[in-house]
Amino acid sequence: ETIPLEMHKVRIVQKLTLLPIEDRLKAMDDAGNNTFLLQNCDVFMDMLTDSGVNAMSDQQLAAMMIADDSYAGSATYTRLEAKLRELFGMHYILPTHQGRACENILAQTFVKPGTIVPMNYHFTTTKAHITLNGGVIEELVKKEGLEVTSDLPFKGDIDTEALEALARKEGADKIAFVRMEAGTNLIGGQPISLANLADVRRVCDKYGLILVFDASLLADNLYFMKEREDSCKDLSIREITRRVADLCDIIYFSARKLGCVRGGGICIRDEGLYKRMRGLVPLYEGFLTYGGMSVREIEALTVGLEETMDEDMINQGPQFIAYMVSELLKRGVPVITPAGGLGCHIDAMRFLDHIPQAEYRAGALASACYIASGVRGMERGTLSEQRNPDGTEVFSNMELLRLALPRRVFTRSQIDYAVDRIDWLYQNRKMIDGLVFVEEPEILRFFYGRLKPV
Ligand code: F0G
Repeated sequence: ETIPLEMHKVRIVQKLTLLPIEDRLKAMDDAGNNTFLLQNCDVFMDMLTDSGVNAMSDQQLAAMMIADDSYAGSATYTRLEAKLRELFGMHYILPTHQGRACENILAQTFVKPGTIVPMNYHFTTTKAHITLNGGVIEELVKKEGLEVTSDLPFKGDIDTEALEALARKEGADKIAFVRMEAGTNLIGGQPISLANLADVRRVCDKYGLILVFDASLLADNLYFMKEREDSCKDLSIREITRRVADLCDIIYFSARKLGCVRGGGICIRDEGLYKRMRGLVPLYEGFLTYGGMSVREIEALTVGLEETMDEDMINQGPQFIAYMVSELLKRGVPVITPAGGLGCHIDAMRFLDHIPQAEYRAGALASACYIASGVRGMERGTLSEQRNPDGTEVFSNMELLRLALPRRVFTRSQIDYAVDRIDWLYQNRKMIDGLVFVEEPEILRFFYGRLKPV
Protein backbone atom coordinates (compact mmCIF):
# COMPACT_ATOMS: atom_id res chain seq x y z
CA GLU A 1 0.00 0.00 0.00
CA THR A 2 1.31 3.45 -0.84
CA ILE A 3 1.04 6.37 1.53
CA PRO A 4 0.25 9.57 -0.36
CA LEU A 5 2.92 12.25 -0.22
CA GLU A 6 2.25 15.96 -0.66
CA MET A 7 4.51 17.29 -3.41
CA HIS A 8 4.01 20.91 -2.32
CA LYS A 9 4.15 22.90 0.89
CA VAL A 10 1.41 24.92 2.52
CA ARG A 11 1.98 28.68 2.45
CA ILE A 12 -1.47 30.15 3.00
CA VAL A 13 -4.08 28.59 5.27
CA GLN A 14 -7.75 29.06 6.05
CA LYS A 15 -9.10 28.41 9.54
CA LEU A 16 -11.71 25.67 9.92
CA THR A 17 -14.28 25.16 12.64
CA LEU A 18 -15.78 21.89 13.78
CA LEU A 19 -19.25 22.56 15.17
CA PRO A 20 -20.66 20.36 17.96
CA ILE A 21 -22.98 17.63 16.69
CA GLU A 22 -26.18 19.35 17.97
CA ASP A 23 -25.33 22.40 15.83
CA ARG A 24 -24.61 20.19 12.82
CA LEU A 25 -27.97 18.49 13.24
CA LYS A 26 -29.68 21.88 13.26
CA ALA A 27 -27.69 23.11 10.26
CA MET A 28 -28.66 19.99 8.26
CA ASP A 29 -32.28 20.42 9.26
CA ASP A 30 -32.20 24.08 8.12
CA ALA A 31 -30.66 22.91 4.83
CA GLY A 32 -33.53 20.54 4.08
CA ASN A 33 -31.18 17.54 4.24
CA ASN A 34 -29.55 18.82 1.05
CA THR A 35 -25.80 19.35 1.38
CA PHE A 36 -25.93 22.00 -1.38
CA LEU A 37 -27.97 24.19 1.00
CA LEU A 38 -25.49 24.13 3.90
CA GLN A 39 -23.50 27.23 4.75
CA ASN A 40 -19.79 26.62 4.30
CA CYS A 41 -19.08 28.15 7.73
CA ASP A 42 -20.93 25.16 9.22
CA VAL A 43 -18.77 22.67 7.33
CA PHE A 44 -15.50 21.17 8.63
CA MET A 45 -14.22 19.42 5.50
CA ASP A 46 -15.90 20.57 2.31
CA MET A 47 -15.81 17.52 0.05
CA LEU A 48 -18.87 18.58 -1.94
CA THR A 49 -16.90 18.98 -5.13
CA ASP A 50 -13.51 19.60 -6.68
CA SER A 51 -15.06 22.31 -8.81
CA GLY A 52 -13.59 25.80 -8.32
CA VAL A 53 -12.11 24.84 -4.94
CA ASN A 54 -8.74 23.32 -5.84
CA ALA A 55 -5.74 25.03 -4.27
CA MET A 56 -3.94 27.36 -6.65
CA SER A 57 -0.16 27.49 -6.86
CA ASP A 58 2.09 30.45 -6.08
CA GLN A 59 2.79 30.66 -9.82
CA GLN A 60 -0.92 30.98 -10.58
CA LEU A 61 -1.40 33.72 -8.01
CA ALA A 62 1.66 35.55 -9.34
CA ALA A 63 0.33 35.35 -12.89
CA MET A 64 -2.92 37.00 -11.78
CA MET A 65 -0.95 40.17 -11.04
CA ILE A 66 0.14 40.62 -14.64
CA ALA A 67 -3.33 40.24 -16.14
CA ASP A 68 -4.03 42.62 -18.99
CA ASP A 69 -7.45 44.19 -18.50
CA SER A 70 -9.24 44.77 -21.75
CA TYR A 71 -12.64 43.93 -23.18
CA ALA A 72 -11.22 42.94 -26.55
CA GLY A 73 -7.84 41.59 -27.57
CA SER A 74 -6.13 41.42 -24.18
CA ALA A 75 -2.64 39.92 -24.06
CA THR A 76 -3.93 37.68 -21.26
CA TYR A 77 -6.34 36.00 -23.62
CA THR A 78 -3.69 35.61 -26.29
CA ARG A 79 -1.56 33.70 -23.77
CA LEU A 80 -4.44 31.33 -22.96
CA GLU A 81 -5.17 30.77 -26.63
CA ALA A 82 -1.52 29.98 -27.31
CA LYS A 83 -1.36 27.50 -24.40
CA LEU A 84 -4.50 25.65 -25.53
CA ARG A 85 -3.21 25.49 -29.11
CA GLU A 86 0.11 24.18 -27.86
CA LEU A 87 -1.38 21.47 -25.61
CA PHE A 88 -4.30 20.29 -27.76
CA GLY A 89 -3.12 21.20 -31.23
CA MET A 90 -6.48 22.73 -32.11
CA HIS A 91 -6.47 26.17 -33.66
CA TYR A 92 -9.90 27.58 -32.78
CA ILE A 93 -10.82 28.48 -29.19
CA LEU A 94 -14.04 29.76 -27.62
CA PRO A 95 -13.83 30.90 -23.97
CA THR A 96 -16.81 30.44 -21.62
CA HIS A 97 -17.69 31.17 -18.01
CA GLN A 98 -17.74 27.47 -17.05
CA GLY A 99 -18.22 23.93 -18.35
CA ARG A 100 -21.99 23.88 -18.66
CA ALA A 101 -21.81 27.03 -20.79
CA CYS A 102 -19.82 24.98 -23.31
CA GLU A 103 -22.56 22.36 -23.14
CA ASN A 104 -25.19 25.00 -23.82
CA ILE A 105 -23.32 26.18 -26.91
CA LEU A 106 -22.68 22.64 -28.18
CA ALA A 107 -26.27 21.56 -27.58
CA GLN A 108 -27.80 24.66 -29.18
CA THR A 109 -25.58 24.25 -32.22
CA PHE A 110 -25.77 20.51 -32.87
CA VAL A 111 -28.77 19.05 -31.03
CA LYS A 112 -32.10 19.25 -32.86
CA PRO A 113 -35.40 17.66 -31.76
CA GLY A 114 -35.18 13.91 -32.34
CA THR A 115 -31.40 13.74 -32.51
CA ILE A 116 -29.32 11.40 -30.39
CA VAL A 117 -26.10 11.99 -28.47
CA PRO A 118 -24.33 8.72 -27.70
CA MET A 119 -21.81 8.95 -24.87
CA ASN A 120 -19.94 6.78 -22.41
CA TYR A 121 -21.99 8.25 -19.56
CA HIS A 122 -23.95 11.44 -18.95
CA PHE A 123 -23.15 14.29 -16.63
CA THR A 124 -26.11 16.12 -15.02
CA THR A 125 -25.73 19.47 -16.80
CA THR A 126 -24.80 17.80 -20.11
CA LYS A 127 -27.96 15.75 -20.14
CA ALA A 128 -30.09 18.72 -19.12
CA HIS A 129 -28.81 20.83 -22.05
CA ILE A 130 -29.27 18.04 -24.58
CA THR A 131 -32.78 17.31 -23.34
CA LEU A 132 -33.66 21.01 -23.32
CA ASN A 133 -32.83 21.15 -27.05
CA GLY A 134 -35.05 18.16 -27.82
CA GLY A 135 -32.32 15.54 -28.06
CA VAL A 136 -31.93 12.26 -26.23
CA ILE A 137 -28.82 10.73 -24.77
CA GLU A 138 -27.74 7.14 -25.24
CA GLU A 139 -25.38 5.86 -22.56
CA LEU A 140 -23.12 3.17 -23.93
CA VAL A 141 -20.55 2.67 -21.18
CA LYS A 142 -19.40 -0.97 -21.14
CA LYS A 143 -21.57 -2.91 -18.78
CA GLU A 144 -18.58 -3.80 -16.58
CA GLY A 145 -18.24 -0.05 -15.96
CA LEU A 146 -21.41 -0.17 -13.91
CA GLU A 147 -20.17 -2.94 -11.65
CA VAL A 148 -19.55 -1.17 -8.37
CA THR A 149 -16.59 -3.24 -7.28
CA SER A 150 -14.09 -4.40 -9.84
CA ASP A 151 -10.44 -4.19 -10.73
CA LEU A 152 -10.98 -2.98 -14.28
CA PRO A 153 -8.53 -0.15 -14.94
CA PHE A 154 -10.77 1.80 -17.37
CA LYS A 155 -14.38 1.58 -16.25
CA GLY A 156 -15.27 4.71 -18.20
CA ASP A 157 -14.72 3.00 -21.58
CA ILE A 158 -17.59 2.99 -24.05
CA ASP A 159 -18.91 -0.15 -25.71
CA THR A 160 -17.68 0.54 -29.24
CA GLU A 161 -19.71 -2.31 -30.73
CA ALA A 162 -22.89 -0.79 -29.34
CA LEU A 163 -21.75 2.60 -30.65
CA GLU A 164 -21.15 1.18 -34.10
CA ALA A 165 -24.52 -0.59 -34.10
CA LEU A 166 -26.22 2.70 -33.20
CA ALA A 167 -24.28 4.58 -35.87
CA ARG A 168 -25.24 1.98 -38.50
CA LYS A 169 -28.91 2.12 -37.48
CA GLU A 170 -29.34 5.87 -37.05
CA GLY A 171 -26.65 7.37 -39.30
CA ALA A 172 -24.94 10.73 -39.23
CA ASP A 173 -28.19 12.68 -39.75
CA LYS A 174 -29.69 11.58 -36.45
CA ILE A 175 -26.54 11.56 -34.35
CA ALA A 176 -25.75 15.11 -33.24
CA PHE A 177 -22.28 14.12 -32.03
CA VAL A 178 -20.56 11.42 -30.00
CA ARG A 179 -19.49 12.55 -26.53
CA MET A 180 -16.71 10.97 -24.51
CA GLU A 181 -16.18 12.10 -20.93
CA ALA A 182 -12.74 11.83 -19.32
CA GLY A 183 -12.69 10.65 -15.71
CA THR A 184 -16.35 9.65 -15.99
CA ASN A 185 -17.88 11.65 -13.15
CA LEU A 186 -21.14 9.94 -12.25
CA ILE A 187 -19.81 6.39 -12.17
CA GLY A 188 -17.08 7.26 -9.68
CA GLY A 189 -14.49 9.33 -11.52
CA GLN A 190 -13.51 6.31 -13.64
CA PRO A 191 -11.07 6.90 -16.50
CA ILE A 192 -11.27 6.00 -20.18
CA SER A 193 -8.36 4.44 -22.06
CA LEU A 194 -6.53 5.93 -25.01
CA ALA A 195 -7.19 2.68 -26.90
CA ASN A 196 -10.94 3.04 -26.39
CA LEU A 197 -10.89 6.63 -27.59
CA ALA A 198 -8.99 5.51 -30.70
CA ASP A 199 -11.72 2.91 -31.38
CA VAL A 200 -14.37 5.59 -31.02
CA ARG A 201 -12.46 7.71 -33.54
CA ARG A 202 -12.55 4.84 -36.03
CA VAL A 203 -16.33 4.54 -35.67
CA CYS A 204 -16.73 8.31 -36.05
CA ASP A 205 -14.60 8.31 -39.21
CA LYS A 206 -16.51 5.40 -40.69
CA TYR A 207 -19.93 7.02 -40.17
CA GLY A 208 -18.99 10.69 -40.47
CA LEU A 209 -19.68 11.63 -36.83
CA ILE A 210 -18.26 14.48 -34.78
CA LEU A 211 -16.30 13.40 -31.69
CA VAL A 212 -16.69 15.76 -28.73
CA PHE A 213 -14.49 15.20 -25.68
CA ASP A 214 -15.38 16.51 -22.21
CA ALA A 215 -11.94 17.16 -20.70
CA SER A 216 -13.14 18.59 -17.37
CA LEU A 217 -11.59 15.64 -15.51
CA LEU A 218 -8.70 15.16 -17.93
CA ALA A 219 -5.96 15.65 -15.30
CA ASP A 220 -6.89 12.50 -13.35
CA ASN A 221 -7.50 10.60 -16.58
CA LEU A 222 -4.02 11.46 -17.90
CA TYR A 223 -2.49 10.15 -14.70
CA PHE A 224 -4.42 6.86 -15.02
CA MET A 225 -3.44 6.45 -18.68
CA LYS A 226 0.20 6.86 -17.72
CA GLU A 227 -0.15 4.46 -14.75
CA ARG A 228 -2.46 1.82 -16.19
CA GLU A 229 -2.08 1.73 -19.97
CA ASP A 230 0.97 0.02 -21.46
CA SER A 231 1.06 2.18 -24.58
CA CYS A 232 1.34 5.31 -22.39
CA LYS A 233 3.99 4.18 -19.91
CA ASP A 234 6.88 5.68 -21.84
CA LEU A 235 5.08 8.84 -22.93
CA SER A 236 5.21 12.16 -21.10
CA ILE A 237 1.94 13.63 -19.82
CA ARG A 238 2.26 16.24 -22.55
CA GLU A 239 2.55 13.53 -25.20
CA ILE A 240 -0.45 11.62 -23.85
CA THR A 241 -2.47 14.84 -23.85
CA ARG A 242 -1.66 15.35 -27.49
CA ARG A 243 -2.52 11.75 -28.43
CA VAL A 244 -5.92 12.21 -26.76
CA ALA A 245 -6.54 15.54 -28.46
CA ASP A 246 -5.48 14.27 -31.88
CA LEU A 247 -8.39 11.82 -31.79
CA CYS A 248 -11.06 14.48 -31.16
CA ASP A 249 -12.85 17.11 -33.24
CA ILE A 250 -13.89 19.26 -30.30
CA ILE A 251 -12.61 19.40 -26.72
CA TYR A 252 -14.49 21.30 -24.05
CA PHE A 253 -13.76 21.67 -20.37
CA SER A 254 -14.73 23.18 -17.08
CA ALA A 255 -11.73 25.19 -15.88
CA ARG A 256 -13.17 24.92 -12.40
CA LYS A 257 -11.63 21.45 -12.54
CA LEU A 258 -9.04 21.45 -15.33
CA GLY A 259 -6.57 24.21 -14.58
CA CYS A 260 -7.86 24.71 -11.02
CA VAL A 261 -9.47 28.10 -11.57
CA ARG A 262 -12.91 29.09 -12.85
CA GLY A 263 -14.15 29.34 -16.40
CA GLY A 264 -14.17 27.02 -19.35
CA GLY A 265 -13.51 26.69 -23.03
CA ILE A 266 -14.17 24.90 -26.28
CA CYS A 267 -11.27 23.96 -28.57
CA ILE A 268 -12.16 23.18 -32.17
CA ARG A 269 -10.10 21.71 -34.99
CA ASP A 270 -12.26 22.76 -37.92
CA GLU A 271 -13.03 26.35 -38.92
CA GLY A 272 -16.53 25.48 -40.12
CA LEU A 273 -17.55 23.98 -36.78
CA TYR A 274 -16.00 26.95 -34.98
CA LYS A 275 -18.00 29.44 -37.01
CA ARG A 276 -21.24 27.60 -36.29
CA MET A 277 -20.71 28.03 -32.55
CA ARG A 278 -18.92 31.37 -32.37
CA GLY A 279 -21.97 33.63 -32.40
CA LEU A 280 -23.31 32.15 -29.18
CA VAL A 281 -20.27 33.24 -27.14
CA PRO A 282 -20.91 37.01 -27.21
CA LEU A 283 -24.61 36.26 -26.71
CA TYR A 284 -24.34 34.14 -23.56
CA GLU A 285 -20.79 34.47 -22.24
CA GLY A 286 -19.02 37.69 -23.12
CA PHE A 287 -16.81 38.88 -25.93
CA LEU A 288 -14.62 36.33 -27.73
CA THR A 289 -11.51 37.31 -25.77
CA TYR A 290 -12.84 36.73 -22.26
CA GLY A 291 -16.03 34.63 -22.47
CA GLY A 292 -17.27 35.55 -18.99
CA MET A 293 -13.97 34.89 -17.23
CA SER A 294 -12.05 37.65 -15.48
CA VAL A 295 -8.60 38.34 -16.91
CA ARG A 296 -7.05 37.26 -13.60
CA GLU A 297 -8.71 33.88 -13.87
CA ILE A 298 -7.56 33.56 -17.45
CA GLU A 299 -3.93 34.17 -16.46
CA ALA A 300 -4.17 31.61 -13.65
CA LEU A 301 -5.80 29.14 -16.04
CA THR A 302 -2.95 29.40 -18.53
CA VAL A 303 -0.49 28.54 -15.77
CA GLY A 304 -2.81 25.86 -14.38
CA LEU A 305 -3.01 24.13 -17.76
CA GLU A 306 0.78 24.03 -17.97
CA GLU A 307 0.97 22.67 -14.39
CA THR A 308 -1.40 19.87 -15.44
CA MET A 309 1.48 18.53 -17.55
CA ASP A 310 3.45 17.90 -14.34
CA GLU A 311 2.99 14.37 -13.06
CA ASP A 312 3.79 15.43 -9.48
CA MET A 313 0.81 17.78 -9.66
CA ILE A 314 -1.78 15.50 -11.27
CA ASN A 315 -0.90 12.49 -9.09
CA GLN A 316 -2.09 14.26 -5.94
CA GLY A 317 -5.83 13.70 -6.41
CA PRO A 318 -5.63 10.03 -7.44
CA GLN A 319 -3.08 9.13 -4.74
CA PHE A 320 -5.05 10.67 -1.89
CA ILE A 321 -8.23 9.09 -3.22
CA ALA A 322 -6.55 5.68 -3.44
CA TYR A 323 -5.42 6.06 0.18
CA MET A 324 -8.89 6.99 1.42
CA VAL A 325 -10.51 4.15 -0.52
CA SER A 326 -8.08 1.59 0.85
CA GLU A 327 -8.52 2.80 4.46
CA LEU A 328 -12.32 2.54 4.13
CA LEU A 329 -12.07 -0.91 2.55
CA LYS A 330 -9.94 -2.10 5.48
CA ARG A 331 -12.84 -1.14 7.74
CA GLY A 332 -15.42 -2.90 5.58
CA VAL A 333 -17.11 0.27 4.31
CA PRO A 334 -18.58 -0.31 0.80
CA VAL A 335 -16.82 1.91 -1.73
CA ILE A 336 -16.41 2.03 -5.50
CA THR A 337 -13.35 0.17 -6.73
CA PRO A 338 -10.93 0.58 -8.23
CA ALA A 339 -10.26 4.03 -6.78
CA GLY A 340 -10.75 6.60 -9.54
CA GLY A 341 -10.30 10.34 -9.81
CA LEU A 342 -12.32 13.26 -8.45
CA GLY A 343 -13.05 11.74 -5.06
CA CYS A 344 -13.81 8.74 -2.92
CA HIS A 345 -17.21 7.26 -3.75
CA ILE A 346 -19.13 5.44 -1.04
CA ASP A 347 -21.65 2.89 -2.25
CA ALA A 348 -24.89 3.94 -0.58
CA MET A 349 -26.75 1.09 -2.29
CA ARG A 350 -24.97 -1.34 0.06
CA PHE A 351 -24.26 1.06 2.96
CA LEU A 352 -27.99 1.72 3.42
CA ASP A 353 -29.53 -1.47 2.09
CA HIS A 354 -32.32 -1.18 4.69
CA ILE A 355 -33.69 1.94 2.89
CA PRO A 356 -35.78 1.61 -0.32
CA GLN A 357 -34.12 3.20 -3.39
CA ALA A 358 -37.17 5.47 -3.74
CA GLU A 359 -36.18 7.06 -0.43
CA TYR A 360 -32.87 8.30 -1.85
CA ARG A 361 -30.22 6.17 -0.19
CA ALA A 362 -27.35 8.35 -1.35
CA GLY A 363 -29.12 11.55 -0.28
CA ALA A 364 -29.83 10.10 3.15
CA LEU A 365 -26.17 9.08 3.49
CA ALA A 366 -24.94 12.55 2.48
CA SER A 367 -27.11 14.12 5.18
CA ALA A 368 -26.09 11.59 7.86
CA CYS A 369 -22.40 11.90 6.98
CA TYR A 370 -22.47 15.65 7.57
CA ILE A 371 -24.26 15.26 10.89
CA ALA A 372 -21.83 12.56 12.06
CA SER A 373 -18.64 14.28 10.94
CA GLY A 374 -18.99 17.82 9.63
CA VAL A 375 -17.79 16.40 6.28
CA ARG A 376 -19.89 17.63 3.37
CA GLY A 377 -20.23 15.28 0.41
CA MET A 378 -22.55 15.20 -2.58
CA GLU A 379 -25.38 12.86 -3.50
CA ARG A 380 -24.77 11.17 -6.87
CA GLY A 381 -27.69 8.84 -7.34
CA THR A 382 -31.44 8.90 -7.92
CA LEU A 383 -31.83 12.37 -6.44
CA SER A 384 -29.47 13.70 -9.13
CA GLU A 385 -31.69 12.23 -11.88
CA GLN A 386 -34.65 13.98 -13.47
CA ARG A 387 -38.07 12.34 -13.33
CA ASN A 388 -39.55 10.84 -16.51
CA PRO A 389 -42.09 13.05 -18.32
CA ASP A 390 -44.87 10.96 -16.68
CA GLY A 391 -43.53 11.81 -13.21
CA THR A 392 -42.06 8.42 -12.38
CA GLU A 393 -38.60 8.22 -10.85
CA VAL A 394 -35.54 7.39 -12.92
CA PHE A 395 -33.64 5.07 -10.60
CA SER A 396 -29.94 5.63 -10.93
CA ASN A 397 -27.64 2.71 -11.76
CA MET A 398 -25.54 3.66 -8.79
CA GLU A 399 -26.33 5.33 -5.46
CA LEU A 400 -23.16 7.15 -4.48
CA LEU A 401 -22.02 9.53 -1.79
CA ARG A 402 -19.18 11.35 -3.44
CA LEU A 403 -16.50 12.77 -1.17
CA ALA A 404 -14.46 14.91 -3.53
CA LEU A 405 -10.80 15.60 -2.91
CA PRO A 406 -10.10 19.08 -4.18
CA ARG A 407 -6.46 18.98 -5.20
CA ARG A 408 -3.79 20.03 -2.70
CA VAL A 409 -6.42 21.10 -0.13
CA PHE A 410 -6.63 18.38 2.56
CA THR A 411 -3.85 16.72 4.53
CA ARG A 412 -3.56 13.05 5.36
CA SER A 413 -4.64 13.57 8.98
CA GLN A 414 -7.85 15.23 7.77
CA ILE A 415 -8.50 12.25 5.51
CA ASP A 416 -7.89 9.97 8.51
CA TYR A 417 -10.48 11.95 10.49
CA ALA A 418 -13.07 11.53 7.72
CA VAL A 419 -12.33 7.79 7.48
CA ASP A 420 -12.75 7.39 11.24
CA ARG A 421 -16.14 9.15 11.27
CA ILE A 422 -17.43 7.25 8.22
CA ASP A 423 -16.37 4.00 9.87
CA TRP A 424 -18.39 5.00 12.96
CA LEU A 425 -21.38 5.87 10.79
CA TYR A 426 -21.16 2.51 9.04
CA GLN A 427 -21.19 0.70 12.40
CA ASN A 428 -24.33 2.68 13.30
CA ARG A 429 -25.96 2.77 9.86
CA LYS A 430 -29.32 1.31 10.96
CA MET A 431 -30.22 4.59 12.65
CA ILE A 432 -30.28 6.39 9.29
CA ASP A 433 -33.74 6.91 7.74
CA GLY A 434 -34.71 7.49 4.10
CA LEU A 435 -35.75 10.90 2.75
CA VAL A 436 -38.83 12.30 1.02
CA PHE A 437 -39.12 15.59 -0.90
CA VAL A 438 -40.77 18.55 0.80
CA GLU A 439 -39.98 20.85 -2.13
CA GLU A 440 -39.00 19.37 -5.50
CA PRO A 441 -37.81 21.66 -8.33
CA GLU A 442 -38.44 20.47 -11.89
CA ILE A 443 -34.95 20.96 -13.34
CA LEU A 444 -31.74 19.84 -11.59
CA ARG A 445 -33.71 19.19 -8.41
CA PHE A 446 -30.66 18.06 -6.45
CA PHE A 447 -29.26 21.59 -6.40
CA TYR A 448 -31.99 23.20 -4.32
CA GLY A 449 -34.67 20.66 -3.46
CA ARG A 450 -35.57 20.23 0.22
CA LEU A 451 -36.23 16.90 1.92
CA LYS A 452 -37.17 15.44 5.29
CA PRO A 453 -36.72 12.04 6.91
CA VAL A 454 -39.49 9.55 6.02
N1 F0G B 1 -18.57 18.00 -17.32
C1 F0G B 1 -18.13 17.30 -16.26
C2 F0G B 1 -17.53 15.95 -16.46
C3 F0G B 1 -18.24 17.86 -14.97
O1 F0G B 1 -17.80 17.16 -13.93
C4 F0G B 1 -18.81 19.14 -14.81
C5 F0G B 1 -18.98 19.74 -13.51
C6 F0G B 1 -19.26 19.82 -15.96
C7 F0G B 1 -19.11 19.22 -17.19
C8 F0G B 1 -19.88 21.17 -15.88
O2 F0G B 1 -18.92 22.12 -15.58
O3 F0G B 1 -19.61 23.02 -13.33
O4 F0G B 1 -17.99 24.26 -14.80
O5 F0G B 1 -20.38 24.14 -15.40
N2 F0G B 1 -18.89 19.10 -12.42
C9 F0G B 1 -19.03 19.66 -11.08
C10 F0G B 1 -18.97 18.57 -10.05
C11 F0G B 1 -20.23 20.52 -10.92
O6 F0G B 1 -19.16 18.90 -8.87
O7 F0G B 1 -18.69 17.41 -10.36
P1 F0G B 1 -19.24 23.46 -14.72
